[in-house]
Amino acid sequence: MENPVLAMNYRGPYRVRLDEKPMPRIEHPRDAIVRVTRSCICGSDLHLYHGMVPDTRVGTTFGHEFTGIVEQVGPEVANLKVGDHVLVPFNIACGQCHFCKQGLFGNCHESNPHATAVGGIYGYSHTAGGYQGGQAEYVRVPYADVGPTVIPEWMDPDDAVLLTDVVPTGYQAAEMGGIQKGDTVVVFGAGPVGIMAARCAWLFGAGRVIVIDHLDYRLEFVREYGPAEVYNYKELDDVVVFMKHTTDGLGADVAIDAVGGDAKGNVLQTLFGNKLKLEAGNAIALHWAINSVKKGGIVSIVGVYGPTGNMVPIGNVLNKGITIRANQASVPRLLPKMIEHVRNGHINPKALITHRVPLEHVADAYHIFAAKLDGCIKPVLVPAGS
Ligand SMILES: NC(=O)c1ccc[n+]([C@@H]2O[C@H](COP(=O)([O-])OP(=O)(O)OC[C@H]3O[C@@H](n4cnc5c(N)ncnc54)[C@H](O)[C@@H]3O)[C@@H](O)[C@H]2O)c1
Ligand SMILES: [Zn+2]
Ligand SMILES: [Zn+2]
Repeated sequence: MENPVLAMNYRGPYRVRLDEKPMPRIEHPRDAIVRVTRSCICGSDLHLYHGMVPDTRVGTTFGHEFTGIVEQVGPEVANLKVGDHVLVPFNIACGQCHFCKQGLFGNCHESNPHATAVGGIYGYSHTAGGYQGGQAEYVRVPYADVGPTVIPEWMDPDDAVLLTDVVPTGYQAAEMGGIQKGDTVVVFGAGPVGIMAARCAWLFGAGRVIVIDHLDYRLEFVREYGPAEVYNYKELDDVVVFMKHTTDGLGADVAIDAVGGDAKGNVLQTLFGNKLKLEAGNAIALHWAINSVKKGGIVSIVGVYGPTGNMVPIGNVLNKGITIRANQASVPRLLPKMIEHVRNGHINPKALITHRVPLEHVADAYHIFAAKLDGCIKPVLVPAGS
């Protein structure tokens, strides 16, 4: 192989390793090549790692949250120059199609033309366009004139890498919840996304923020960081009944699902959704969200599910008059605002980083993050020499 570079390589469920791959090349005038300085592992990568997402191909390099130094730019990329340190939104978006023009960068029509739902995403299954990701030394960045943003001088690169996904996703979770002043917001999931959603709920005027998970170390973290009231669902007889009791019998005004298809907490859902794969993941957190929001309330979903699911209480959605809002986050739309929130100290992203792992130990990092070992909240992979 000419000029090989190191990259994470998916070998099948629960098996990833570091391998040599060809150096990525400019393939289109709007491409750039970026030398990665940091890349995170995300809960979305875990859906791939667990074999939950259709058409996840052996040989794919994952990684949609990365920063890096611009090494090369195509002739149509006027906004970047070689040597710029950029953060790269996880959405691959053309910036020009019907959806990008509305700010729906997560639903770009051009970057994933064979699909009718999601736009392109780095390092994801081929259902998201089949692009190689950033858990590597180098990555090809398509539409480099749209997504990549030069990291401001004053910003810590550890903050920057979390602006590629976690911060805007948590923010959008709160935004889609339509939070009104004084609202009670319940967030399911105390992973990086749920933690950030809880933090951002206050920015929209929430009066009470509750976070539910079963991992005490994460609940302890978000209790301070949110701040939030926290509950371990394993210690509650029934999450939904608890949520009713603690809200005068009404339910929360807004419920956020920051868990997605790898949820735990219900044997039947685990059997059908995760073991037998008869539906697109385990929908118990969504189930709880729907049943614990008040009549007329809003359920905001950022947790990722496959295309079809059948164990969602859709009748309750109808009869309670619930509004469901959901999407992949639209990172380029939110970035300017997120940068301001970091600058003025409203959000401190890098506090979530618990593990800094050399890229060569990528397999260990996946294992630690997936099994929730060693107090792991967010691992960052760092290529040698960066
Ligand atoms: N929409 C988007 O743009 C977007 C972006 C990033 C991540 N995501 C998705 O957000 C979700 C969370 O990502 P993350 O990085 O925080 O993942 P994570 O795996 O670190 O966190 C998920 C958390 O949910 C908890 N959990 C499991 N079952 C639960 C239940 N029944 N009730 C409450 N909590 C439960 C887990 O213990 C864990 O702490 C994933 O589905 C991911 O794919 C979506
Ligand atoms: Zn992510
Ligand atoms: Zn587009």
